Amino acid sequence: MDLVDPHGRTVRDLRISVTDRCNLRCRYCMPAEGMDWLARSDLLTYEEIERVARVCVERFGFTGIRITGGEPTVRAHLPVLVEKLAALGTDLSLTTNGATLRLLAGDLRAAGLRRINISLDSLRPEAFFAITRRHALEQVLDGIDAAVDAGFSPVKINCVLIRGVNDGEIVDFAAFGRERGVTMRFIEFMPLDADDGWAPATVVPGAEVVAAIDAVYPLEPFEVRGSAPAERFRYRDGAGEIGVIASVTQSFCGSCDRVRLTADGMFRNCLFAVKETDLRSILRSGGSDDDLAAAVAADVGGKWAGHSIGKVNFIRPDRSMSQIGG
Ligand code: 5AD
Ligand code: SF4
Repeated sequence: MDLVDPHGRTVRDLRISVTDRCNLRCRYCMPAEGMDWLARSDLLTYEEIERVARVCVERFGFTGIRITGGEPTVRAHLPVLVEKLAALGTDLSLTTNGATLRLLAGDLRAAGLRRINISLDSLRPEAFFAITRRHALEQVLDGIDAAVDAGFSPVKINCVLIRGVNDGEIVDFAAFGRERGVTMRFIEFMPLDADDGWAPATVVPGAEVVAAIDAVYPLEPFEVRGSAPAERFRYRDGAGEIGVIASVTQSFCGSCDRVRLTADGMFRNCLFAVKETDLRSILRSGGSDDDLAAAVAADVGGKWAGHSIGKVNFIRPDRSMSQIGG
């Protein structure tokens, strides 16, 4: 049975956060210090995560699962979870900051992961540090190479642009993607940073990114968007493609097909949801698959039409990005 929300959108994509911890401290996602990490006992076990995912796949025909964090690779034995989720037969992917990928890429690939997104917000050491608050640029670049070496295809690089911080690097990023054979994806900064540093003026519109790259490396649009948030453009000379995720200036909520599971087992029907459903209590009080399915369906029944970033009625969720999962 398809899971259709009140706005006629069929939900098929589950993003699973496996930890709220991270080895970096990106300013668009977490405060510099003072994060209260979840206790180990608060986290869903891999068996509990698998169970929720299985209910979504078997009962509602979900076709996509993405593993997120915090930083998913800081959770021990991540390939064990990948193997369990890969067995469900959906399109499985992972979002990581890449810092530990040199060590893990081969094991993740062997466990059945095919697709990977790596975050990289600057190619310049000082700006990389200013954004992530860690000196890890070399490690991340090495992690990207490791992902390519391990056979991930495509390797996508997520870049959140912030005005005055890294918006001078757009063409450098394009050159980087073309040289390394990876797909750059430029993401508009959303108000989910724990520091409250977001303001409309900090957003670099996707259209500006496309124009800047097109002026140096001519681009052409291809493929209609569907429910995927990225608008895709390819280089006219055949050297690959880029994606632009204009979540703020051109909201794609109208075709949103995704829901989220936080590391502590809360089900969320939107990145910006202010209410969530506690699946962990159901799992730990002997609830059945029917109970889980009913809770998921009820939560999706409350899915909003979309966010209202920039409007007066916008409410920031209580959780920051690292606690929801990107
Ligand atoms: N705005 C936009 N994207 C964000 N991410 C994290 N925080 C934000 C934000 N405030 C995304 C980035 C990052 C991934 C983990 O989550 O794409 O690469
Ligand atoms: Fe989907 Fe909510 Fe994001 Fe809109 S804001 S795209 S509805 S998750």
